[in-house]
Amino acid sequence: MKKIKRSNAFEINVTIHDDTFIRPPKDSQRNALVNRAIKEFAGELNILDEQAKHFVPGATLHSFDLDREQKVMEDQEIMEDWQIPLMKEMAKAIAENGGDILEIGFGRGVSADMIMQHPINSYTAVECNNDVIKTYFETFKTTHENKKIQLVHGLWQDHINDLGLFDGILFHTYPLNDDEYMQYVNGSITFAEHFFKHASDHLKPNGAFTYFSNEIDSLSREHQQLILKYFSSFSIKIIPLIMPEDVRDTWWANSIVVIKAIK
Ligand SMILES: C[S@@+](CC[C@H](N)C(=O)[O-])C[C@H]1O[C@@H](n2cnc3c(N)ncnc32)[C@H](O)[C@@H]1O
Repeated sequence: MKKIKRSNAFEINVTIHDDTFIRPPKDSQRNALVNRAIKEFAGELNILDEQAKHFVPGATLHSFDLDREQKVMEDQEIMEDWQIPLMKEMAKAIAENGGDILEIGFGRGVSADMIMQHPINSYTAVECNNDVIKTYFETFKTTHENKKIQLVHGLWQDHINDLGLFDGILFHTYPLNDDEYMQYVNGSITFAEHFFKHASDHLKPNGAFTYFSNEIDSLSREHQQLILKYFSSFSIKIIPLIMPEDVRDTWWANSIVVIKAIK
């Protein structure tokens, strides 16, 4: 099967050489399915064309020549300030109904502070970086000394099986080195994909999960299917962002989606 779709800006050529691929009972059904997929792809290209007009250039990409597990970092290296409005919405998504909250990656504690503004019962953080713990977590603990706060010091991969069930889970880590980048970013729909099963395993029924979505203004079909493999439903909210021209993170768009996935 060969299909071509043209617009003034692009041409899409699809050749399906496997006769058993997308094979419903009737040829007309096969045609309809493939036509729809091509139409969706053309639509996606037009959406990306619009989104790209609002990108900031950002700083030149760096590779992780130093392992970040124990690297002593500037606060903007841990998390840039443009993410603060995003942290507020992510905290709300998983903590607004209260209960026991788990956060993977404490960082500067910005999202943690925002989680504490909700009527929660307990807060548990998993954080591997000794300096992050000394600089940010110790202050956080003193600020909220009347609250139930627990720190799990180490890599979440080494501790997750010892943790119980939670009402809300916020996952916000980053690749610690090139190996993790290759493993968790290349080939994943979203960086947090490798944590989805653990999130689902550690949520109580109706518990909520959120993570850095890597989505600008809606979710791809693949991303939705991935969520629905582990969760029963989800909602999304689009957060407008004011991006610095020289942003160092690999995010350049003027909005981002906050996802609330429900167990
Ligand atoms: C982007 S920061 C989190 C920022 C945080 N949401 C805030 O508001 O400040 C990511 C944090 O995750 C931690 N981290 C990265 N990989 C980890 C892992 N595998 N286990 C535990 N912590 C990890 C890093 O040390 C870093 O402190």
